[in-house]
Amino acid sequence: MHYYHCTFVLSVLAVSLLCGLGKPLSPPWDIMYMKHSWNAVPRNWESLGRPPTGTTIDLYISLKSQRENALVDTLYEVSEPGHPRYRAYLTKEQVAELVVPRPETLKLVNSWLEHHGISSSSISMTHGGNTLMLKGVSVTQANTLLGASYQLYRHVESGETIVRTVGYSLPVALHWHVLTVAPTTSFVSSRTQWQTPRTQNHSEGAMKSTSGEPATMLSSRAKVDFVTPSFLRWLYDTETYAPNTQGENVLGVVGFLGDYPSPTDLTAFMQEYRSEASDATFTVVDVNRGGYDPTHPSEEANMDIQYAEAMAYPIPHIFYSTGQGPSGTEEHLMSWLNYILDQENVPQTISISYNYEELALEREYAIYVCDQFAKLGVRGVSVLLSSGNDGVGEGTCQKDDGTVRFRPTFPGTCPYITVVGGTTDYEPEVAADLSGGGFSDYFKRPRYQEEAVTTFFQDLGNRYEGLYNASGRGIPDIAAQALRFRIFLNGNDQEERGTSIATAVVAGIISLLNDWLIMTGQEPLGFLNPWLYGRGFRGLNDITEGSNPGCGTDGFSAIAGWDPVTGLGTPNFRNMLEQLF
Ligand SMILES: *[C@@H]1O[C@H](CO)[C@@H](O)[C@H](O)[C@H]1NC(C)=O
Ligand SMILES: *[C@@H]1O[C@H](CO)[C@@H](O)[C@H](O)[C@H]1NC(C)=O
Repeated sequence: MHYYHCTFVLSVLAVSLLCGLGKPLSPPWDIMYMKHSWNAVPRNWESLGRPPTGTTIDLYISLKSQRENALVDTLYEVSEPGHPRYRAYLTKEQVAELVVPRPETLKLVNSWLEHHGISSSSISMTHGGNTLMLKGVSVTQANTLLGASYQLYRHVESGETIVRTVGYSLPVALHWHVLTVAPTTSFVSSRTQWQTPRTQNHSEGAMKSTSGEPATMLSSRAKVDFVTPSFLRWLYDTETYAPNTQGENVLGVVGFLGDYPSPTDLTAFMQEYRSEASDATFTVVDVNRGGYDPTHPSEEANMDIQYAEAMAYPIPHIFYSTGQGPSGTEEHLMSWLNYILDQENVPQTISISYNYEELALEREYAIYVCDQFAKLGVRGVSVLLSSGNDGVGEGTCQKDDGTVRFRPTFPGTCPYITVVGGTTDYEPEVAADLSGGGFSDYFKRPRYQEEAVTTFFQDLGNRYEGLYNASGRGIPDIAAQALRFRIFLNGNDQEERGTSIATAVVAGIISLLNDWLIMTGQEPLGFLNPWLYGRGFRGLNDITEGSNPGCGTDGFSAIAGWDPVTGLGTPNFRNMLEQLF
């Protein structure tokens, strides 16, 4: 929109000034203009002052692409059934061609960095310069570069500390060229970012147990004491399918912040619940040498890998570990995205269970992260991501001005990801009240969703008006069981819940569909949503009861068709398979 076409600039001086061509006339780097800032330190964070001397951060600088819409246009072409390019996925090099910045953008940014004594040898870039990465920048230097004031911030509840700045600036000459710089102003805490498994005891406030729901709301239905692999394989109709491919089809599970799965627990889990799969294994990829310690498994990683394998065995699994790595979920997500997008071969299906509030982010930063997922889609990857465990939002959801606003989770609000909500019980299966759902304030409703979401609004009327953005992308897209799971941790058989496991379950089922496609000589499903909303939904069980309370409200209700509680419904593998013919 605001790209500067250097070729159209008449004055030589202006060319030099704006495009950084003439050395002696480089732009005035000290004229800085605010890029993004908050009015105050975000809620629940307190400053601990300057970080210790010697503190460094890895800075990501995202440059605007020469062809602004090429990436997303291509994504829809390769994902839309019926399009001539349907499932004609791109290589890493072809993606780079789509998103490469203008040569003058690169020149200008490099001369700015050079001006600050950052040599080009310390800058690594991906996708032809779409992202520049500066490793180990001192906080002092980052402050100078970005007119920032990086400090150490502590989350008042979790105690987590991150290095951030309340605002940052860029030289005026760079504003049209740089989309965002991170980490800068995103204040995201691990307490809300990952899908903490809730044990049975977590029952206060909005987290009512199912038995506490008003009986009149729900029809009589069969309760399941425990969700196990055999129950899920029966419920979602995968029992009779035997995967065929060996090695070609891969299911990836992502772990951040020192979440490690234990192979020993996986074996014990399978021996107990799916004994013919007792030899299930996974490969670990240690992303950017962040580490992997199987002797200290976490609930999150164990449950994700156990239920992905429970559904998709014997399809090969890869666990991506960013280890202890850098602090903060955002840094882990960036680090993993950079790693995976740099690979020649990527898994056909990926399960991710980390998220955080969209409104804690600069909008341009959210767009940048979302574009990375679009790149995965263009490469033919189906990304499944959890919708969160807090219904329409955790706590009171009051903004600084005291008004209530629902809190949809990111990165799921990005339209290029398939988001998974939660259900429970069967005959009928109903929404789990923890199921995250809502509407984005940053991303507008994608066209694949237009009809489904409009129909939902006709039912909703003006209820909750002002608490959500009616023109925003709605989540989730799909759902699966999310309560009363059995998992193994440190040799103990215990109960867990959350949309994390629902996500692993759906990822496992999508991986089976990809298995069938590859076995029959076809390309995998890739970015699912255009197919899911256009046709795939006919292979799902529509969930029409239950709701997702939060923010001191009853939340949204599941209804016939799409809803912001269970999306289009839960998978039926055999019926979904039919929608591929
Ligand atoms: C569950 O919560 C109750 C009351 O808060 C407590 O007394 C009990 O020990 C808890 N049980 C477990 C298994 O943590
Ligand atoms: C609502 O969403 C649209 C589309 O994403 C956006 O342009 C607008 O700013 C949003 N409004 C609010 C109040 O967040």
